[in-house]
Amino acid sequence: MTANPVDLELRHPRGRTQIRIGAGALAEPGAELLTSLSGRTCFVVTSAQVRELHERRLSPLLESCRQRQVLEVPVGEGAKDLEIAADLWRRMVRGGGKRDSVVIAFGGGTVGDLAGFVAGGFLRGIDYVQIPTTLLAQVDAAIGGKTAVNLPEGKNTIGLFHHPRAVICDTEMLSTLDPAELRSGLFEVLKIGAIRAAELLGVLERVLPELLARDAHALAPVVAAAVAAKAEIVEADPEEGDLRRLLNFGHTLGHALESLSGYSGLRHGEAVGYGMLFALELARERGLEARVAERLVALIRKIGLPPLPRASV
Ligand code: GLY
Repeated sequence: MTANPVDLELRHPRGRTQIRIGAGALAEPGAELLTSLSGRTCFVVTSAQVRELHERRLSPLLESCRQRQVLEVPVGEGAKDLEIAADLWRRMVRGGGKRDSVVIAFGGGTVGDLAGFVAGGFLRGIDYVQIPTTLLAQVDAAIGGKTAVNLPEGKNTIGLFHHPRAVICDTEMLSTLDPAELRSGLFEVLKIGAIRAAELLGVLERVLPELLARDAHALAPVVAAAVAAKAEIVEADPEEGDLRRLLNFGHTLGHALESLSGYSGLRHGEAVGYGMLFALELARERGLEARVAERLVALIRKIGLPPLPRASV
């Protein structure tokens, strides 16, 4: 372990999620989590790419499992599919999955959403652990128990709230991220800063170059602050009755742009970046102070949006 991890806890209606964040956090998953996995069958849901880059980092976590099986899924939003979920359920049954088995979601937001959904449906719900490997998943998707797959009719149409037993955000894994993917995650950090954790805005203004350089030690406190702010919102409103909708800042236009570009022209965070610009414009018309809007717009520009893809409507 190269730095002290930050340990947080998210209390939800069915218990609590332990969250560990740090550069190298996977090297020391924590005694409580290791004990809870002891003697159980662990199904690691991941992609071939993440497996090749980072599988060795899982060894300390998996050593207490009775047996482990790796279940590879395709990369990208297309993996959030009912057929793929059903295939995973069948492989888990054939692999001896029981009520005390555990799913380990090891990948970005799509792997986390799919694996959480699969865990939530298997034998009426089994435990899972989120090991998010992208910045976007570490600060947003892996936190808060939202799981889903898509239908051709719409994104995230079929899903459930199923909170992970634990989340480990190891910022060392972010060093292999495509720079554009890192920027995409920074838009979600900015979103949380704008709605709930204003100190994050100052951090983004001060250390953006280190964050863009994927410095694991610079990223760790930023991820910790973003996760703490999100956890506070989720604890107050676990199933999005009211307050949690704040987390959708920038997502109305963002989702429309993602859909228009067939979920391939823009990354999720980039679409949210555009969505926040749009929402800020509307908010200014409704009385948001110009200096607040200008600060956020300047940060969005500084993080850097790609050009909008062409879309035919
Ligand atoms: N990604 C928004 C939420 O978790 O509510």
